[in-house]
Amino acid sequence: MFPSSLPVPRLPDANTLPTLRWGIVGPGWIADRFASALCGHTGQQLVAVSSRSVDKAQAFADKWSVPHACGGIDALLARDDVDAVYIATPHNHHFPDGLRALQAGKHVLIEKPLALNAQQGAALQQAAQQARRLCMEAMWCDYAPKYDVIRQLLADGALGEVHSLIADHGEFFTPDHRIFNADLAGGPMLDLGSYLISFSILVGGAPERIMAQGEPAPGGVNGQTAMLFTHKGGMQSVLHTTLFSNTPGTAVIAGRDATLYLDGQFYAPGNFRLVSSDRRQTLHWEEPASRYQQLCHEINHFAWCVGQSLTDSPLRSLATSLLTLRAMDEVRRQIGVVFNEER
Ligand SMILES: NC(=O)c1ccc[n+]([C@@H]2O[C@H](COP(=O)([O-])OP(=O)(O)OC[C@H]3O[C@@H](n4cnc5c(N)ncnc54)[C@H](OP(=O)(O)O)[C@@H]3O)[C@@H](O)[C@H]2O)c1
Repeated sequence: MFPSSLPVPRLPDANTLPTLRWGIVGPGWIADRFASALCGHTGQQLVAVSSRSVDKAQAFADKWSVPHACGGIDALLARDDVDAVYIATPHNHHFPDGLRALQAGKHVLIEKPLALNAQQGAALQQAAQQARRLCMEAMWCDYAPKYDVIRQLLADGALGEVHSLIADHGEFFTPDHRIFNADLAGGPMLDLGSYLISFSILVGGAPERIMAQGEPAPGGVNGQTAMLFTHKGGMQSVLHTTLFSNTPGTAVIAGRDATLYLDGQFYAPGNFRLVSSDRRQTLHWEEPASRYQQLCHEINHFAWCVGQSLTDSPLRSLATSLLTLRAMDEVRRQIGVVFNEER
């Protein structure tokens, strides 16, 4: 049955959230946007930042009025006034940095992907349970209003039986970007591909069969990969990611009763439309492409989880993060990509 209106996104009441004292590890590109969202759009406090260079940490601290600039992660983790740590280092640092933060007794929000592979992810899950601290993957779209509306549409059966997901995520990068660096677990998979695979699991559950083909890029990393996932009941996800070029970044979820068309970039704030299969009815989701301001939702959800004494997010559990990592492991096995840490 085609809905008469779109569901309302369910977000935590910002007035009821505990105010956590945050530390940021790795003041790079995304950390800057995270600090902007935290300072401008949440009631949370940013109290410390760490970098391998204390001067760099100080420059970030000056920009965002952070009281403490630390030379290295250990100095930040030793601080008693830090409740929660946001790990914004390159992919292959997520596991060791996240583990140290949990072992230091901090709640930890780890940039996507949670870890390099499912084995590392499972170790983080175990460490969080042992430390009784929250560990959450910063897959920011999962906490945003748009995804909550989509989750509700799928749960309500508004699309009918879903047969297909078609999505791509390609971005052009200059050769000096870390995505071309094999020593930082480069290639599109952990950066861009994790959005695709995560979305495919949100729509269809864990894939039962995976087929993938990849093409290399200079620098010894994968350059682009095409993937076909088959989910329970025969639903198929057709996914493509590349670091060579910009692609539309759209996604289409096709069901028997209706089709959902997401504008590119499908995972970022932006519009979608739900169109009935007879094309007589359409519902529109419209929001400004405010983009990184919406990092505030993962920050607020994280604070809500801590307030509820949870060690795992009900919106994006570590088990869900592990499903994404397992699927990426299998894709990499098929295209022959092995990270340095796995050799
Ligand atoms: N949520 C999103 O939309 C989004 C967007 C972009 C990236 N990300 C994720 O965030 C992570 C960081 O990406 P980014 O683009 O922000 O990277 P970036 O600009 O290169 O920043 C990474 C930071 O990590 C620190 N670092 C520690 N060890 C390092 C090493 N061996 N080599 C290089 N840097 C090291 C660096 O800080 P110091 O030099 O100061 O120590 C650097 O500033 C990635 O895992 C990526 O997947 C998420």
